[in-house]
Amino acid sequence: MSELQSRETDLASLVPENAIDAAFRISSLEYWPKVEQIGQGAFGKVWKHGTPRKETPFAAGKHMKVQLWNLNKEQKEDLEFRVNSFIREVDVLTKVSSKCHERFVQFIGCYLDSKKLILFTEWMPNGSVKNHIIERPLDETTALKYTFQATQGLHFLHHYKGGRNIHRDIKCDNLLLTIDNNVKLADFGLAHGLVVNNDSYTISQSAPSGFHGTIIYAAPEVLTGETYGRRADIWCVFLLDYLSDIMSTMKRKELA
Ligand SMILES: Nc1ncnc2c1ncn2[C@@H]1O[C@H](COP(=O)(O)OP(=O)(O)O)[C@@H](O)[C@H]1O
Ligand SMILES: [Mg+2]
Repeated sequence: MSELQSRETDLASLVPENAIDAAFRISSLEYWPKVEQIGQGAFGKVWKHGTPRKETPFAAGKHMKVQLWNLNKEQKEDLEFRVNSFIREVDVLTKVSSKCHERFVQFIGCYLDSKKLILFTEWMPNGSVKNHIIERPLDETTALKYTFQATQGLHFLHHYKGGRNIHRDIKCDNLLLTIDNNVKLADFGLAHGLVVNNDSYTISQSAPSGFHGTIIYAAPEVLTGETYGRRADIWCVFLLDYLSDIMSTMKRKELA
């Protein structure tokens, strides 16, 4: 191996073989053409793709943004964090998405090679709740409907016997809308296992320390560094109506 090659990290080698079920591995992108960019998250761009599947002609592909070249210690840690978040998202989606079709974006599969990591989910034609809020604030009835539907998804996620999880990044960017404007939860990269601890279910002892998520949505116990559990997600979901107004006003001022 040349010295140049040895300074480039092989992405596929960072993902354990058993992290992605064989049934969900996409071996080639030949029949998955990019159509248009539909989103931008902290971890990379999201594209609408064509698919070779008749029943789902389109999919959303989250392309993990990764730097692989000549990494220093911090960059290596950042890459590890991104890959772990990808593995976590795959794990949660594999477990819950097919069990609760109505409230979770459906998992399609993953593509992985030495340089690319792409997570494919069902394409949601109406985008995220955030896309709508920045045009105008939600009316009260719609805000209540979205809040209720997101809470249904969270209830499933928190109590699912096959593995209880807390989402840890509930916000309007991560609530996606079906063609009929019903909410599905998405973006499970920060999800974490819960342990049963009376009825509040807290995060396990192995939880990473430090703040994760989005600060304006964070529950008080998350900000003060205390133990937190499923109620930290519930806090975020009930901010939806309140923040919808604020975000819309901010956007209008920005455009004025
Ligand atoms: N399945 C999807 N259908 C339509 N839009 C999507 C889909 N998944 C993500 N998006 C868009 O891309 C944005 C970023 O995706 P997300 O999964 O939240 O990535 P990140 O982990 O980087 O935040 C979302 O806020 C949404 O606007
Ligand atoms: Mg997101």
